[in-house]
Amino acid sequence: MSPEPNRTLSPTDTDWWRNAVFYQIYIRSFADGNGDGVGDLAGIRSRLPHLADLGVDALWITPFYPSPMADHGYDVADPRDVEPVFGDLAEFDALLAEAHALGIRVTVDLVPNHSSHDHEWFQAALAAGPGSPERARYLFRDGRGPDGSEPPNNWPSVFGGPAWTRVPDGQWYLHIFAPEQPDLNFGNPEVVADLEETMRFWLDRGVDGFRIDVAHGMAKPDGLPDMVPMDDTGLLDDHGPGDHRFDQDGVHVVHRRIRAVIDEYPGTMAVGEVWVSDDERLAQYLREDELQLAFNFKLLTAEWTPDGLRDAITHSLAAVEGTPAPACWVLSNHDRPRHVTRYGGGALGTRRARAAALLQLALPGAAYLYNGDELGMPDVDLPDHVLQDPMWFRSGGTERGRDACRIPVPWSGTEPSYGFSSGADTWLPMPDGWASLTAEAQRTEDGSMLSLYRAALELRASSPVFAGESVQWLQAPDGCVAFRRPGGLVCLVNLSGAPVPVPEGRVLLGSAPVDDGTVPDDTAVWLHA
Ligand code: BGC
Repeated sequence: MSPEPNRTLSPTDTDWWRNAVFYQIYIRSFADGNGDGVGDLAGIRSRLPHLADLGVDALWITPFYPSPMADHGYDVADPRDVEPVFGDLAEFDALLAEAHALGIRVTVDLVPNHSSHDHEWFQAALAAGPGSPERARYLFRDGRGPDGSEPPNNWPSVFGGPAWTRVPDGQWYLHIFAPEQPDLNFGNPEVVADLEETMRFWLDRGVDGFRIDVAHGMAKPDGLPDMVPMDDTGLLDDHGPGDHRFDQDGVHVVHRRIRAVIDEYPGTMAVGEVWVSDDERLAQYLREDELQLAFNFKLLTAEWTPDGLRDAITHSLAAVEGTPAPACWVLSNHDRPRHVTRYGGGALGTRRARAAALLQLALPGAAYLYNGDELGMPDVDLPDHVLQDPMWFRSGGTERGRDACRIPVPWSGTEPSYGFSSGADTWLPMPDGWASLTAEAQRTEDGSMLSLYRAALELRASSPVFAGESVQWLQAPDGCVAFRRPGGLVCLVNLSGAPVPVPEGRVLLGSAPVDDGTVPDDTAVWLHA
């Protein structure tokens, strides 16, 4: 029996997600409540006051379900329970109730494209043999070549190597990611029904929505034809038309089923991880009976140049135009280098990251922050022997993978683990020299990244200047990006290499001081004009 839902937030505010600021919690790295060096649900509970004080509207918690952790939880062995390393269902219910009491909504990750190889379905499929209904929940095929010893097609795995693994009876199964993540067969009604059951399981507990992993995956073309050969794929690269692993038309059938369940629970939502760069193809995921939001990764992949930023914004807005959806902005997540590092690292990267934060939060639509963005966390160069990402192993050590952007969050104190855990050891090591990066150190410092984020989120939540979902580009000095929102917010970002005059209007916030009448290089300013 499901517990009573915990939702205490306004039930009439069903569109809350349209301009919400979401905060991504990569659970292993956010806060450790039991001292084992791995973040968990208890840790999140203990840090809810930080999140309330920061002013975020909603959380996205990455997978915390039972998992052998071949891909740190994105290999789900049971989507309707909690991995003991992270806590249990009672702990989750308590977290949900406490977050709601603080006015923070909670969304969780849904991983439909694949299960773990430890999922009971996959174990049954291995045992049952070729042609069985158990195998029909996954994508098992005979191999090519006279003795079937070659993979059924030429698809590469996103993590390196072929997307097929052979089992002892000679058949092969498809795994777009690691071999421990067999792809499910969405042509099988049982698979869709099971996804719906998982959604209801969490919605009945009171969650406010889902982030859908690999939302452009799931459907595979009939006959699983060879794809246009590509060099060894980078992680989640931009999958264009010749890449049959992703963005197949059949995926929209699945999204309609997902949306139908969402619509049974007013006020809930789904955001898709859709790595589709074509604006029109992306828009298809946002039709009125599909996803409410789709991450637009153009800001996350844009160069720090005026053209790069303008182009990212233009395309992101074009993709949602004509759909019911607002744009959805992302600067960093657990799969890509953090933006402080992308923008040059050190003081330069931090300065640009401050400006980027004001840019992201000035744009109309929803915004996703990644845990640690608010502290200005950079990536960390890790030695080979501590790397854990399956990419590192699958690529034979040629791709370092994503561990560098997954370092635990520093909370307090002057040495590792900076309040993340009760002990010094953490699942990925934390570097020396982070004393000034901690939330504790930044909380009372006026010029800190944390203070900037708090001020920006407070303004965004309270000021009418943020009204309206369009942007009007403004004339600005060369090397600057400037736009106005219908409510009167003007945002200017200076990337010109030299100071420019502060535009007309009342200054609301700057990513660096602008009191001398100029906006320094690599600085953003918000004005009411
Ligand atoms: C997640 C990754 C994960 C992959 C496979 C992604 O897009 O964000 O972290 O490795 O899906 O589930």
